Amino acid sequence: MTPGAKKKEQSAPSKISSAGLGRESADLRITQPDPYAGYLANINKTNNVVSTEDIFDSRGQLLIRKHANIDEGCAQRLLQHRLLKPLEEQVRVKDALTNKSLLAEYSRFFEAHADIYTMQRHLGFTQEMERLIQGMHLPSILAQKMTVMKLRLPDQFHKALFSSWLAALIAREMSLHKDDIYAAFLAGLTHDIGFLHISPEIFNNKGEASVNDWRAIQSHVVIGQLVLKGYRELPESVSQAVLEHHERCDGTGYPATKDESSLSILGQIVGMSDALQALRMGIFVKTGRNLRDAMPFLRLNSNTHFYDIYCASVDILRKSGLEPTPVAHPQGNAQYAPLLAHRISYLKQAVSSMKQIAGALSKIESGPKGRVSLRTFMQVLNSITTSGMARDELLGWVGQIDDGIDDSVLLEINEIELMQNELAWQIGSAQRTFNAFLERECNADSQLQSTLRMHNDRLRESLEKLRQH
Ligand SMILES: [Fe+2]
Repeated sequence: MTPGAKKKEQSAPSKISSAGLGRESADLRITQPDPYAGYLANINKTNNVVSTEDIFDSRGQLLIRKHANIDEGCAQRLLQHRLLKPLEEQVRVKDALTNKSLLAEYSRFFEAHADIYTMQRHLGFTQEMERLIQGMHLPSILAQKMTVMKLRLPDQFHKALFSSWLAALIAREMSLHKDDIYAAFLAGLTHDIGFLHISPEIFNNKGEASVNDWRAIQSHVVIGQLVLKGYRELPESVSQAVLEHHERCDGTGYPATKDESSLSILGQIVGMSDALQALRMGIFVKTGRNLRDAMPFLRLNSNTHFYDIYCASVDILRKSGLEPTPVAHPQGNAQYAPLLAHRISYLKQAVSSMKQIAGALSKIESGPKGRVSLRTFMQVLNSITTSGMARDELLGWVGQIDDGIDDSVLLEINEIELMQNELAWQIGSAQRTFNAFLERECNADSQLQSTLRMHNDRLRESLEKLRQH
């Protein structure tokens, strides 16, 4: 048993998602059953999950005998009790991932994504990565959890493959020590392991998340740190990086809104890899874009994750062997000029609302949510100003686009479109933070509150139009 496992014996699985969070978050999570037992029961249908010892609840009552199949009935029983020991330490999953099978998963992943395969060859990372995986020491419980992720949350598993690959590449590009490249790889692989302990209803909700659901989703970084902490086989920096992968250098991230003075490099490398993953494996899929097309996104995020990480990421894309993808408008390129013009005007409206909100926020004596909210709005306003995306000159350039668009103009149009998308995402993220402030912390007088809500409604309208076009 690892020292980490010993430490974990003290906390029951149903508490795994609550420990370490703020009081409010702990209250929220403690009422939720840990869905990991449900995932195991599902996997049991194909991969045979067996208890390796008698499983007791926290009062010493026997729940499941040794060598039992963890089926639906067992899962229901387990979900109703706090356990003496974490469930994952008391079960074995048949055919769990090994270094060899994980290597095969990466091979399949490269075969399925031509641009990533091209990058791998151009950057000469193939053999180094193979050696890294072959020499990897993944604790058996983490191999079990990654197997569960592969079978029950396959999209998350592929995102983990992407993030680990890119995190290692960025670390190598920054000339970090080989131990740090290894740690970046492991942190990239396991960064979202906490999602295995979040209710599938919340996790799979495609609609707009409520403030409570959003906080539950955010808790995955703390859960991930708890899962990874204390394993002798893992570099200590891995659990720290997992905890920090949604923190941002400008202090607008979570869970602790740390700023660059206290953030680890590895956490920000994983943060950058995860952000690029979200583009490449998410919205780029629809338009057939490749990872090289993430360059406009990088330009808008040069200081989000440490400038050195930005530089390394840009260098990787430049040396990737990939070219930007010209993407024609589905209804003909003549549609682009009015489309961009509309989006510029919606962006200007959003700027106006955000300035009003930031101005009001700066005059209020507010707590942490208010301060983060103000900082986030200021950061987005700065992004929009420096990008030139709301300037009249850009509107003038767009007005001159005629029907005969060649590839070089099309690429410029695509770049503007991608920057507008990224700014829309940043505005949405700032508004989520602001909504949490309005709901939970704002104690301004009623007149100021109604002014803030009015500007917030206007901002929501502009943002919806920006996203719809
Ligand atoms: Fe995450």
